[in-house]
This record gives sequence, structure tokens and C-alpha cells, in this order.
Amino acid sequence: MPEQAAGQGSGYVTESSDSTPSGAARKRIVVGVGGGIAAYKSCSVIRAFTESGHHVRVIPTASALEFVGKATFEALSGNPVHTGVFTDVPQVPHVRLGQEADLVVIVPATADLMARSVVGRADDLLTATLLTARCPVMFVPAMHTEMWEHPATVANVATLRARGATVIEPASGRLTGKDAGPGRLPEPDEIVGLASLLLERPDALRRDLEGRRILVSAGGTREPLDPVRFLGNRSSGKQGYALARLAVQRGAQVTLVSGYTAGLADPAAVDMVHVRTADDMQVAVAKNAPGVEVVIMAAAVADFRPSTSAASKIKKGAGEPDAITLTKNEDILAGLVQSRRHGEIPSSTVIVGFAAETGDAEGDVLTYARAKLLRKGCDLLVVNAVGEGKAFEVDHNDGWLLGSDGSESALEHGSKALMASRVLDAVGELIRIR
Ligand code: CTP
Repeated sequence: MPEQAAGQGSGYVTESSDSTPSGAARKRIVVGVGGGIAAYKSCSVIRAFTESGHHVRVIPTASALEFVGKATFEALSGNPVHTGVFTDVPQVPHVRLGQEADLVVIVPATADLMARSVVGRADDLLTATLLTARCPVMFVPAMHTEMWEHPATVANVATLRARGATVIEPASGRLTGKDAGPGRLPEPDEIVGLASLLLERPDALRRDLEGRRILVSAGGTREPLDPVRFLGNRSSGKQGYALARLAVQRGAQVTLVSGYTAGLADPAAVDMVHVRTADDMQVAVAKNAPGVEVVIMAAAVADFRPSTSAASKIKKGAGEPDAITLTKNEDILAGLVQSRRHGEIPSSTVIVGFAAETGDAEGDVLTYARAKLLRKGCDLLVVNAVGEGKAFEVDHNDGWLLGSDGSESALEHGSKALMASRVLDAVGELIRIR
């Protein structure tokens, strides 16, 4: 693509696109790319933003171009790509790109790039853009564990955060060589989700839960009938995963007890406990609850399990069962409230439940939800109306937040990430007054 073909008179291509969003919802996003092996993953992030209809400008550092070619970034963004401040000078891109952006996402943010940003360098287009941007700026670090944990990087991250930038907690896992540990770039989907949340709510990733310990349960349990069959439910785990992902980025130490999900990847920097049955979930929650300040039960726990689970596959024909007998599972949420009452977990523990409700001739969703809050005895109940394509398996949600103090607030329609941020606001307030 010829360098001057696109973006004349403006930093971004402005032709209409077939994709959503349009109008005010279409944002100007600068994707800065640092010089690290994870630079190739920025391609998926750029593609996701352009496919969502946003205007994207990619600004790599010179060393990022050692990993991914300029043509790739130009083709994916549909805009010209430069690294220095002396290209396209009449358009003053080193000032304008930052000034006009709605969001700057640095992916990957190397230790060097963050250090240069901290001291206010402006010797290439990306650092100059970082100095002129007044929109939310999100650094997504990727580096070896030693570099991430080095006091210089730790101090730089703290400085960037203190100045209002978001620095994402990296994932743990396999790094470039044979080593593994914290420093891995979170998955592109997760980066795009967090960036989209910042566009919806610029303060959504503030570090107000720094050092807090939070236990979240998510997903559905499966209760075996035999080695190949189970009783399950339609929970995708998306809401619980959104809560865990966001809590960790707001500074909390998060343990996520997960049942089955719609194939969700483990969120970055979260301690994962994978379980199968309601019984397993109860054991995992009971084990972890005494050490946390907040328990959020977003999981769809099966209320019943088959009373017997056959050791081998149930066959048709002679001996086939004509009914399944069920046994009630323990109510984990109500059990937690009991444990708090009996002093087995600290009395200050904040306990949050979820309610998936449908209204009927006897009462509406809120009537049932208020009764459930009383029955369960938790501090907060997040209420979703289910059915007709709502709540299960979808990316958007709405509902109400009911407090044991009688408070009731509507959770307006939005992404599950936005919903999670509202729930964590309420949780944060409860922690502060305890
Ligand atoms: N829950 C739990 N243990 C169970 C069942 C549910 O901890 N055995 C928790 C869920 O994680 C959720 C809350 O209880 O936070 C409400 O779940 P829901 O299925 O809506 O309520 P139930 O207690 O199952 O009540 P009902 O099915 O009668 O509406």
C-alpha cells in the first residue's frame, strides 16, 4: 500500500465500513506495538478492532518491525504505518495521532518501551504519541519473568499506573524459550475485551481492589449418570470469568473455581481451580473461602445429582432404568453464609450470590429475587432475567443488584464486562465499610 494513499488530511481512514459500530460508537484507536516476540499477537488485536468497525492506526517501534512487517500492519489496519516523527510531516502525526485518539493500546508493552514512556522520551512516533495522548492508555506487557519482576520495571509500572495509565497484569505460562512464569501476553480476545471496556467506561480498570483477595465461582457443574452422560446446564461461564478477569486487573488476587464453560480460556493472572461436579465445587469453595475477603458465587451449580452414577455405560435393553432418581446437592452459597454465622470464615467476608429468574403468574422476577436474597442470606444478589435469549450464552446482560440492606439498583443493559464492573463497584464499597 503506498504510504500516502490513505489518511490524507486526517490520521485515520474515514470511509464507511460494513462493520459495526457506526457513528459515535466508532472509535479512533492507536495500537502501539513494542519490539518483542509477542508483537505477532498484536495482529489479532488489530484485526478485532477493525472488524468491530473502529478506526485503527498502528504505530510500531523500529524493533517491532524486526518481528512483524510494516505491510502486515498496513493491510490489517487499512492505514499507513510509520515509526519515526519525520514521515508525513505536514500532517504533524507525532502530535495529532495522540491528540485525536479515543484509546491507545500498547501490545506488547516491552520493559524498554514502558521505561521510555516513564521518562517522557519522544524520540519515535510511538513515544511522542504517548506524550500527546489524553485518552485512556493501556499497556499490555509481555516480557521474561526476570524483566517483569525487576525493581526497575516494577517501579515503572507503578509510575505509569500512578499517572492514570492502565498496565495490564500479564498472564503466567510458557514464555519464548523453555521458561515459564508471569510475563506472558494475555490472549488477544482478553486484550480486546479489556480495551473495549475502557472505551465503555474509562475508569473501569482503576486499581481500587489492590491486594484484596477474591474468590469467584463460574460455569456450570456436571452431575454424572454414567462415565459418558451427565446432567448439566447452559451456563457459559462468561459472567463469572468477566468478574475474575476484571477483579485481577483492578488489583485483586483472584481464585476462580470453574466448572464447565463454553470453552473459555483461563483469564490472565488468575489462580484457577477446575472442578466437575457440585460436590467438587463445594469442596474447592470451602477450602479457599477462609482466606479471602469476598466470595462471588456466579456458578450455575446443579441443585440435584443422580442418586447413583453407574460405573459403566448404561445400555439399552434388559436392566435399562426407567427413571432417574435425584439427590439434592448442598447449597454452597447458603452454606457459606452459615459458615460466616458460625465463625468458620471471617464475619467481614462479603458474600455475593447470583439469581437467574423468570417471572410467572405468581410473581415477577424481582419478587422472586427478593425472596431468594432473604433465603440465601448473602450481602448482594445479582439478578438476571433469563429466557428468550437472555443471560445464558450471550455476551450482553442486564438485571438488578439487590443488597441485604434493602438497596436495589438496576444494572443497565451492557456487556458482561460492564456488568462485572458495576458488581465490583458495589463489592468495593462493601469491603471499604467492613
Ligand atoms: N447456588 C449454590 N449452590 C447450589 C445452587 C445454587 O451455591 N447448590 C448458588 C448459585 O451459585 C447462585 C445462587 O445460589 O449464586 C442462586 O442460584 P439459583 O440457581 O438461581 O438458585 P437456587 O438456589 O437453585 O434456587 P431455585 O432454583 O429454587 O430458584
